[in-house]
Amino acid sequence: MRPATAEAPANIALIKYWGARDLDSALPANPSISMTLSSCLSRCTCEPLDGAEDRVEFRGADGRLAPADEAFAARVRRHLDRLRARTGAGVRCRIRTENTFPAGAGMASSASGFCALALAFGAAVEGRPTPPRELSIRARLSGSGSATRSALGGYVEWPGDEGDADCPARALFDAEHWDLRDVVAVVQTEPKSVSSLDGHRRAATSPYFERRLAELPARLDAVREALAARDFAALAPTVEEEAIDLHLIALSSRPPVFYWKPSTLAVLERVRRLRDEGVDAAATMDAGANVHVLCTAASEEAVAAALVRVEGVSRVLRDRVGAGPRLVEDEVA
Ligand code: DP6
Repeated sequence: MRPATAEAPANIALIKYWGARDLDSALPANPSISMTLSSCLSRCTCEPLDGAEDRVEFRGADGRLAPADEAFAARVRRHLDRLRARTGAGVRCRIRTENTFPAGAGMASSASGFCALALAFGAAVEGRPTPPRELSIRARLSGSGSATRSALGGYVEWPGDEGDADCPARALFDAEHWDLRDVVAVVQTEPKSVSSLDGHRRAATSPYFERRLAELPARLDAVREALAARDFAALAPTVEEEAIDLHLIALSSRPPVFYWKPSTLAVLERVRRLRDEGVDAAATMDAGANVHVLCTAASEEAVAAALVRVEGVSRVLRDRVGAGPRLVEDEVA
């Protein structure tokens, strides 16, 4: 056994995972579809140890690699315990992890972080790359459902149904199929007030949750078809409707969860006007206030130029569809 390092990307959901049938195992209430990103990455080195305890280090906003805070370290250890149980490898590990997205940019890192951890762990203790289906299963063992989708590149569906107890994600189309871009308008840099975990927990208390589940099959079909046909005009309204539906469920949960800031609405309004001006742009938000604006390559400049000028937008990040996780040589040091 020797140290191994992996990089894994974040992803942005076009159809969201929101609500679970088993939250501890991250088994979702509904299928979701995402686009794997390219530049927003986590990198993780897993080094097998002789000792009796796992060690977890994280590179913080100050750029220094230091022991992780207890809440994060506990989550990593729990994931390692589940990876050990699945692989039969008893070894303890030193984990060093960092994100390539700018610190304080309000980007979620659990999907990329736990997917990178699963890939690095497999390479370190089994001495080989974990195939995508198995990596997807192992990433989900972290409890981060969205990590399930980060195991694959391009456009990914996580069916999440009861037909397959392992519940992996599957590839819909690879990254070369359609060069979509994601321009992120950052309006919030501090952590969100209510975790995704609590949001999932409360989702079924919304009186609209059953209505959402009933509408999703048609919405999933619409997204699959728009992706297959590379039809941005068909994709845009469905993606926006879905993002607003997630926030409607959050708002009407008991107790309610309110993620938006005033600038979230300002960005949504600007995106709508961009579309009226003939620019391909579609907004989506995860469990937070930042707005991911999906667009075609031809529209990216116009979208980015418009979003930096919206009041309350502190910065704009640019990303695009990407090829998925990989093992790399450079250790986190
Ligand atoms: C709104 O349980 O995967 O992003 O572990 O915090 O990343 P984290 O959350 P997770 O829920 C993701 C919720 C979502 C929608 C989505 O990505 O499908």
